[in-house]
Amino acid sequence: MIVKLLLDRKREGGELAPEEIRALVDAYTRGDVPDYQMAAFAMAVCCRGMTAAETHALTDAMQHSGACLSWTGPSADKHSTGGIGDKLSLVIQPLAASCGLSVPSLAGRGLGLTGGTVDKLESIPGYNAALSLDEFKRVVASCGVSIAAQTADIAPADKKLYALRDVTGTVPSIPLIVGSILSKKLAEGAGTLVFDVKCGAGAFMKTRADACALARALVDGAKAAGRRAAALVTAMDEPLGWTVGNALEVEEAIDVLRGGALGERALPWPRQARPLPHDVVELSVELAARMVSLAKGEDLDAARAACLANLANGAAFARFAEMVKLHGGDLDAFLAQRRVEDVSPGRAVAPRPPLAAADGFVASIDAQKVGQAAFELGAGRAQATDAIDPAAGVRLLVKRGDGVSAGQPLAQLYAPTRPERLPAAVRLVQEAIAVSSAAPTVRPLIVEIVE
Ligand code: URA
Repeated sequence: MIVKLLLDRKREGGELAPEEIRALVDAYTRGDVPDYQMAAFAMAVCCRGMTAAETHALTDAMQHSGACLSWTGPSADKHSTGGIGDKLSLVIQPLAASCGLSVPSLAGRGLGLTGGTVDKLESIPGYNAALSLDEFKRVVASCGVSIAAQTADIAPADKKLYALRDVTGTVPSIPLIVGSILSKKLAEGAGTLVFDVKCGAGAFMKTRADACALARALVDGAKAAGRRAAALVTAMDEPLGWTVGNALEVEEAIDVLRGGALGERALPWPRQARPLPHDVVELSVELAARMVSLAKGEDLDAARAACLANLANGAAFARFAEMVKLHGGDLDAFLAQRRVEDVSPGRAVAPRPPLAAADGFVASIDAQKVGQAAFELGAGRAQATDAIDPAAGVRLLVKRGDGVSAGQPLAQLYAPTRPERLPAAVRLVQEAIAVSSAAPTVRPLIVEIVE
């Protein structure tokens, strides 16, 4: 293989053969192709695109660059392209397991405005996300679900290539994104993959057209690799749920997993009862129902009913609690700690929260700005080595469409380790929440279904 000739062809818009792509990926993973040539390849793909056959070959080569797992019985995983307040995995993965699926879920630590799923779970004292693949398999076998950190054994080619793309301006390319996401998810071995492709101001894909194109490519790629697959393109203009921040989001996911079962009054929190976040509940049920329906070959309505029943009867929460225990986490300690933080609001809660400037309705909540506020407060990281403050974040007190009165608090902000950042973050949240005299029109959460 002469890499320079492959680069010449790709630069001119030509097509590479599957065996050429495999040879390139294998050689790069071994260290036989230097970063500068692979960066040139990534840029050529960014500019020229890839055919479906090329994308499939790239995905397959990256998937097989490391360990590939397999499961007996129906299995599924959900992948989200990520958004502000996106705590859906914490609800969906145990919910799908409670319906009889194996749910092996390797997730990321977030680089960006807020933590990833693993960062969120690590706000539970003792939760060990760094399992070996054997430990991961044992947890899935024991309780049906494990959410663990991506290991170095899974798709090492993607780890190396993604780090290069990140610093060479070559992340925004659909074939490269598909290869990156799918290689990891296919290597995990779940028979069904359901994608939540976020679209809007707080999402990686800002436009509906881009989000739909990515959803189509992910579903086609997963099917080409022999898996069952579907995607929902969902709105990410305002944050999901009430909270943005790691422990806050775990707390809210527990509300959803437990609130249905026990009723609002029985929630473990001593403060005033909060309504359940309807957007989180709706998307969790829709995505989990698709996992169950595809994996078991069951009718979608029946799967939806089973998911709602398992939220209401406590079965989904029981799976979550069991998973946390098997990962070494102490849920009681987490709940007790959250209770203390609630009744001691002097602990770096913004003394002057953002307030409604006039009577009216919440017309919009800019997800990106709320995410920036959470980042200011310490909920995210700019570099892989930065520490996250699990208790930092934003709790919204209003959602789009709510009526408000002048002077009403709109959000509560928490910054235990960076109280000096509270005023700037309050300003960001104030700017994020627009109040108008007329109620906004209702917008659907699910923008497109791709099957
Ligand atoms: N997430 C990934 O895992 N890979 C990409 O390329 C983009 C988002």
